[in-house]
Amino acid sequence: MTSPAGPGPGPGRHILVCGGAGFIGSCFVRDVLARRDGTRITVLDVLTYAGNRANLAPAEADPEQAPRLSFVRGDIADPAAVGPLVARADAVVNFAAESHVDRSILGPEAFLRTGVIGVYVLLEAIRHETELARAGERRTAGGRPMTAPRLLQVSTDEVYGSVEEGSSREGDTLAPRSPYAAAKAAGDLLVGSYRATFDLDVVLTRGANTYGPFQHPEKLIPLVATNALLGMPIPLYGDGLQRRDWLHVTDHAAAIAFVLEHGEPGAIYNVPGGTERANREIVAALLAALGRPWDLVRRVPDRPGHDRRYAMDGARLAALGWRASVPFAAGLAATAAWYRDNAGWWRAIRDAGWDDYYARQYGARIAAGEPVPTPPGWGSTSGAGPTVAVAAFPSVGPAIELDGPEDLGA
Ligand code: NAD
Ligand code: DAU
Repeated sequence: MTSPAGPGPGPGRHILVCGGAGFIGSCFVRDVLARRDGTRITVLDVLTYAGNRANLAPAEADPEQAPRLSFVRGDIADPAAVGPLVARADAVVNFAAESHVDRSILGPEAFLRTGVIGVYVLLEAIRHETELARAGERRTAGGRPMTAPRLLQVSTDEVYGSVEEGSSREGDTLAPRSPYAAAKAAGDLLVGSYRATFDLDVVLTRGANTYGPFQHPEKLIPLVATNALLGMPIPLYGDGLQRRDWLHVTDHAAAIAFVLEHGEPGAIYNVPGGTERANREIVAALLAALGRPWDLVRRVPDRPGHDRRYAMDGARLAALGWRASVPFAAGLAATAAWYRDNAGWWRAIRDAGWDDYYARQYGARIAAGEPVPTPPGWGSTSGAGPTVAVAAFPSVGPAIELDGPEDLGA
């Protein structure tokens, strides 16, 4: 492991977490505060349909953690909201984004506003604070000198595009294929440009498909779990053989905290999960875990421009000293149980503004849907089949030679 290079969590540290009321950001907030190490966190979140104060309730209900957590409702694309908050932070972690590919196909504009203008506004604020620090003029409210803030930009494996074979490395050419992925890639390039031009202390992570509790029910795993629990049809896009690499949310959040502390300035770090599965396998495993029948599954018209496969090489992050620790089978079973046991959480979301989205995204698709042949080994079409071997598929490829760590702006 390298020596510490940045301001990760720790006593006296103050981290600004943008998008901290969403799925991964709130996990980062909960898990960092639960260390009880004195770290203070300010969440800046505009509370889109995906932002949810209830995701922060466990920390807000804890008398030791609550005083170390502040919440500000605001937009990362608003300089007046961002500037004063960045001025008080040792580090900024940016989770804020529109995050759902299907919604980016229905309406891309919000993706560009947050993913491009929002990232630009954050970078300008970091640049301003960096200039103050370099002039010796950056100070705490009590007058103590402060160093320049580090920015960790949270990005995604989707910027590499569809990876038919092998695995993406940090220096690979970006080839985004959805408006969501293009907005994320634009954010990555902006961060790199500010590294090259202004020598800012920036690091960037590219995480794999993330799953776990508190994920909005629009995404595959919670959609399947909640539809199954409600006895509703489960829409499987196309042949269902698209492949994703799955990363538990606590691992993703822990990797981000680790890179914030140890990442080399200017470096990009892939964060793979190490568990590649076809979508059909995910659906089968969830139905089995929840005791629901396969005949809920419908083959529906495919997502336009659907990426066939994502896979990343994680050697660089492993060399820095971090790897994922939640076994997929256990993580998926626990996630299914969480959705079964926390219906109040997801019903509140599905009751509020969900029908309109659901009708636009799924109405015609489900109407055109067809039954999907029962997978081999499934007990019957009307009973749940407990026989899908969740852990029986290959993980992502072996580690290969490393690039140098400076990618952003190199
Ligand atoms: P999410 O949609 O659950 O949460 C996004 C949060 O950002 C919400 O709380 C929302 O209110 C907030 N937000 C959106 N626009 C904002 C703005 N302009 N200003 C302030 N707040 C704003 O998303 P998530 O799944 O938690 O993803 C978080 C980040 O991780 C995103 O940048 C995403 O691209 C990236 N990522 C996600 C995954 C995944 O599988 N979910 C994988 C890799 C990377
Ligand atoms: O890979 C990282 C990305 O993972 C993140 O950057 C995104 O923010 C996150 O949303 C996720 O993107 P995906 O498009 O891979 O995730 P989603 O859950 O939407 O879909 C996973 C797969 O399941 C994908 O192949 C599409 C398919 N799918 C999805 C839904 C919602 C279906 O077959 N049916 C569905 O109803």
